[in-house]
Amino acid sequence: MIGTGYVGLVSGACFSDFGHEVVCVDKDARKIELLHQGVMPIYEPGLDALVASNVRAGRLSFTTDLAEGVKDADAVFIAVGTPSRRGDGHADLSYVFAAAREIAENLTKGSVIVTKSTVPVGTGDEVERILAEFAPNSGAKVVSNPEFLREGAAIEDFKRPDRVVVGTDDEDARDVMRAIYRPLSLNQSAPILFTGRRTSELIKYAANAFLAVKITFINEIADLCEEVGADVQEVARGIGLDNRIGSKFLHAGPGYGGSCFPKDTLALLKTAGDNETPLRIVEATVQVNDARKRAMGRKVIKAMGGDVRGKTVGVLGLTFKPNTDDMRDAPSLSIVAALEDAGATVKAYDPEGFEQARPLLPNVEFSESAYAAAEGADALVIVTEWDAFRALDLGRIKSLLKTPLLVDLRNVYPAAEAERAGLKFVGIGKPKRS
Ligand code: UDX
Repeated sequence: MIGTGYVGLVSGACFSDFGHEVVCVDKDARKIELLHQGVMPIYEPGLDALVASNVRAGRLSFTTDLAEGVKDADAVFIAVGTPSRRGDGHADLSYVFAAAREIAENLTKGSVIVTKSTVPVGTGDEVERILAEFAPNSGAKVVSNPEFLREGAAIEDFKRPDRVVVGTDDEDARDVMRAIYRPLSLNQSAPILFTGRRTSELIKYAANAFLAVKITFINEIADLCEEVGADVQEVARGIGLDNRIGSKFLHAGPGYGGSCFPKDTLALLKTAGDNETPLRIVEATVQVNDARKRAMGRKVIKAMGGDVRGKTVGVLGLTFKPNTDDMRDAPSLSIVAALEDAGATVKAYDPEGFEQARPLLPNVEFSESAYAAAEGADALVIVTEWDAFRALDLGRIKSLLKTPLLVDLRNVYPAAEAERAGLKFVGIGKPKRS
């Protein structure tokens, strides 16, 4: 497993838990040293225990030496980063190609080379070309096997996926992949979908884009709800019970963020542009979501009466979603910037995100608890729906706030409950309260 980021480390740990022997490789010596000490470079529930038990069982190891990982491997997974390239949004494939070359130079047999990183259509062809150049007679095959795990639920998602997608027309390579994923089919019959390699590469982008569209759709419906006096949570339930629509990914909020949707929608648009096939729905989604994150700051300012100069805002939750320490493209970044630009002071509490957030939010005062973030503030804003914020003592919040205003950008609390505690309440996609 080349790369010990989210996908690489979780996949490596889970494959070893299936009983396979896994060597995780990373160029970052500090990361590998931490992993040797049992310290996880990311926050992901359950990962440390899973890694520890498989290291103890002798199936999982870590090294900076790629040759050690590649030697005698039946399959080599490329799970390095594919960040957005500055300027054009195209996925930066330099890490993938560098890994492919180094793998080629160290192959000892006809391994199956698997791209697990999210890579644009045609990347597998280029990896194949690199192999042909640097390991001409190796017999190695290139397979696409995108990963659909979500941060915060990564292990569960990996072990109980809705489907496994494997892109290759080569029967031997299919057999190797079948063997690797066999434990899944024994468990609960997650279907393996075999496709061509380009199709498999596109499935990953189409899936993420579709989910981004779904979220953005309900977010726009939420805005309409506010204007016409409807309730977006009930609308979502009302449409989601239709099996053709489905109830998941219909939670209105401050806009999607994270390491995948923003980057992958842009990369898909780049592919679409290169092929002169515009994807207008995805284009609109990207624009609407970007605008929404900025609009959320204005929504808070409006709820506070329009002028926040000299006022203090308490923010609950900074990471782009709960159960992660990931701050990439988090809506909190736009919201805090808008509040600070308008003259407010922001203090914030997040259960796991402080370390990542601190350098990105240099003017924010970090609080010790949700209650400390509320103390003396003119509004409390829920930005990320951590479980720890689901059962707050709203009476206590009310007594700590200078101005009793709760802006709930994730609809964690029913308006009536907040109002019973004496708080003025503003949610997302809710009828206006008098
Ligand atoms: C996503 C995909 O779900 C996963 O399949 C893919 O492999 C990687 O990208 P992830 O980014 O970890 O996973 O988180 P996800 O739970 O999908 O949430 C993404 C963003 O959408 C978050 O900002 C979340 O708050 C937001 N979201 C999600 C909503 O606003 N409403 C929803 O109903 C669901």
